[in-house]
Amino acid sequence: MTSNLKRLLFTLLGTSALLTAWADNSSSRIEIDLNKRGAKIPASLYGIFFEEITGSGDGGLYAEMIRNRGFEEGVLPSGCTLDSEGYAAAPHRPCYSNDSINRFRVRWSPDLAMTGWRTQYTDGSQASSSIVDQHPLNAATPHSLHLDLQTARGEVSVVNNGYWGIAVEAGKSYDLEFYVRSEKTPWCRAAIVTSEGQTSARSDMHLTSNGEWHRYTTTFTPTVTGGKQTLQITFPAEGRVWVDYVSLFPRDTYKGHKNGLRKDVATMIEELNPAFIRWPGGCIVEGLTLENRVKWKETIGDPVERPGEYNLWGYRSTYGFGYHEFLQFCEDTNADAMFVCNAGMSCLFRNGDFIQGDALEPLIEEALDAIEYALGDAKTTRWGAERAKNGHPEPFALKYVEIGNENIFARYAANYNRFYKAIKAKYPQLTIISALMFSNDIKRLDKVEMIDPHYYETADWFYNNADVYDKLPKNLPYKVYVGEYAAVGHTNLYSSLAEAAYLTGVERNADKVQLVSYAPLIENAAYGLNHLMVLNNEQVYGRSNYHVMKLFSENLPDVNVQTRILGEQIARPHSPKGFIGLSTGNTAAQFRDLKVNSSGRTVYTTDWSDFGERWEPLRGQWSVEDGILTQPTPAGDALVKLKDLETGDCTITLKARKLAGYEGFRVVFGLQDDRHYFMADMGSHTNESVLFREIGDKGSVSLFDYRNQEPIEVGQWYDVRIEIRGNEWKCYLNNRLVYTYHYTIVNKHYAVSGIDHERNELIVKLVNGQSQPWPTTLDLKGRGIVPTEARRIELSSESMTDENSFIEPEKIAGCESTLRIEGRTTPIVCAPNSLTILRIPIQK
Ligand code: AHR
Repeated sequence: MTSNLKRLLFTLLGTSALLTAWADNSSSRIEIDLNKRGAKIPASLYGIFFEEITGSGDGGLYAEMIRNRGFEEGVLPSGCTLDSEGYAAAPHRPCYSNDSINRFRVRWSPDLAMTGWRTQYTDGSQASSSIVDQHPLNAATPHSLHLDLQTARGEVSVVNNGYWGIAVEAGKSYDLEFYVRSEKTPWCRAAIVTSEGQTSARSDMHLTSNGEWHRYTTTFTPTVTGGKQTLQITFPAEGRVWVDYVSLFPRDTYKGHKNGLRKDVATMIEELNPAFIRWPGGCIVEGLTLENRVKWKETIGDPVERPGEYNLWGYRSTYGFGYHEFLQFCEDTNADAMFVCNAGMSCLFRNGDFIQGDALEPLIEEALDAIEYALGDAKTTRWGAERAKNGHPEPFALKYVEIGNENIFARYAANYNRFYKAIKAKYPQLTIISALMFSNDIKRLDKVEMIDPHYYETADWFYNNADVYDKLPKNLPYKVYVGEYAAVGHTNLYSSLAEAAYLTGVERNADKVQLVSYAPLIENAAYGLNHLMVLNNEQVYGRSNYHVMKLFSENLPDVNVQTRILGEQIARPHSPKGFIGLSTGNTAAQFRDLKVNSSGRTVYTTDWSDFGERWEPLRGQWSVEDGILTQPTPAGDALVKLKDLETGDCTITLKARKLAGYEGFRVVFGLQDDRHYFMADMGSHTNESVLFREIGDKGSVSLFDYRNQEPIEVGQWYDVRIEIRGNEWKCYLNNRLVYTYHYTIVNKHYAVSGIDHERNELIVKLVNGQSQPWPTTLDLKGRGIVPTEARRIELSSESMTDENSFIEPEKIAGCESTLRIEGRTTPIVCAPNSLTILRIPIQK
């Protein structure tokens, strides 16, 4: 039988067995015991994470309509210099994780300076235009657009296209502000112009021609509605001008604030009921260099005085949505504020440069000042007074401070300890969060209140790990804030329900996991990624996971009650069988002394002299020399298969060495073909962890419930041992057990429930991640259950691949109906691909 045929049979048998097992829901019931109380659920559980990424702020939430308003887009990231090959290069300083010199750099282009802008000439006439730094308007916006109009024959316009078009509505008000330094240019005309060239609004202005900067303002009331309009400022062919800080805002911002937020976008965030909002991120807290980090003091005050900064997501932040606007937004949405400060280290995946010891003091001060800005008294503190000057005498509701973002290892721990001590001494009421994930480094922290593990995994990881927090020890000595999570890859209803499944586990364990926020929050559609909310300049919609998030936060009980799915098999163990092999991902590596034991005997051993005959390279470049197999390319996904040995349970031993690249090396087992196999992945997640992985129809699924920190060192030969025993798999490095995984296939049915005491309701959440209906029975135990009418809120769609869009923004959203609760036993059918929430009135 060919291996393809075998694979087909395996798949068919596997699938039919699966269908039989999962299809038998006839005795399925959900037993909910109201007398058995579980974890208390804090009202703070669901919050949001905001970071300037993919146009979330500039071109997103922040209502500014002019892109590159200060002509500063060409300014290099702080701390970087332009190298001879045209890159913005970070200084060659050791990285905090391992002292490596990362030589981090980003492609740079002189054209960036004119991002969003073009000049337009009439009648083929010419005028010289350039971005200059003579006569700066102020130190924060040192560049301006200079037009020498003396050589022009007709009018010259500077045109801004906004964020992929300027969207205005006829009859509404838009406030324009800009600065001009004129030398003998007597007037200008500001206009909003449609894509057909029709003037939608216009204002003529006399320019003061004295070689000084002057501010000009006007309010437009366009006559034409449209999303692809431009702003044009037109000058006559006379004299010379410098133009800077051109800003256009809708008058109608969220809560009417000046320098405010887009009403539609902010309202959608408000509708998520966030209990807290985290700002400013994310990796931009760390910066690509330490100098490039978000410096909160540069984000407050008059926006024309804010320098902005290139953000490591590939564009410049204006800092228009700054610290004050963030705190105000928290107040407006009734959310607690979470401020994240830099921990003295830049992003480890970028430059990773760092400071330690006493050199850290200015950064600690910077963090303390930020806290004082939010909480300090307006009369007696320096930064409290600054807040009052910026229009808010009362303190803001800052509740959490996170020290760093995604930082790890001993140097982080040392820095954290200094920050923690200083902040806690002054502000004992704050909850301090460590950026550490679950790791051994936690032991290095003097005091730890909360850690912040992040999960960017496939949808299947989330389905498989809805119980991940059930496995946490009962007496966990700290709380957990899941600061960032997202099912990555192609997002649709399937991945949103995976996140819903995961949230059932979060909610059930809310005594340990006290805060959770999805990331990233917003994307401008021009970036084409998969974030919670998607916008362009006219519209915003929530993907299906936005609606999942919203339903979870709207339907939050205050205490869990014991909820069990009975009468169906929730998960079943799976034992792999197939070929073995070796693999690397973005890494060059070597292998020797490979041996396979099975059923108590050695079934294969090699010095690679049989490589040509018995091994089949499937991807990558593989060659043998002196008893060593080498895959020399530190790029791509390489795979080689031992083609004539199929095994189930076995022990694979070998020596492996990483030569170069981002990850480590992998041992493959249970291989059916080059698209379907399992592996022990040593150096996974950019060389952070040792774990297992499944390659299959769903892509590459990480198999772990605990992501350890076990990087693979370059140049070191490791003794590797992989033990496969049924569904229990173990990976040893140098005779030390570094990871154990139990592989099960889950049936994608989930339930959690709790009581909302204020409304006297039992809230039940059911997730059906299958494309078949889930017929089951609610089996309610305990006091307070009477026949009644329950609210039923269902989110579902015909196909798992469905998703919302600008055309159908609420194709997938919660829909309300009712369900008659008969008494203690009520049959219910959950729709295919659905999240169902029941609110069942109960008696006191
Ligand atoms: O959410 C995007 C990024 O992912 C965040 O900035 C970072 O913390 C994580 O790595």
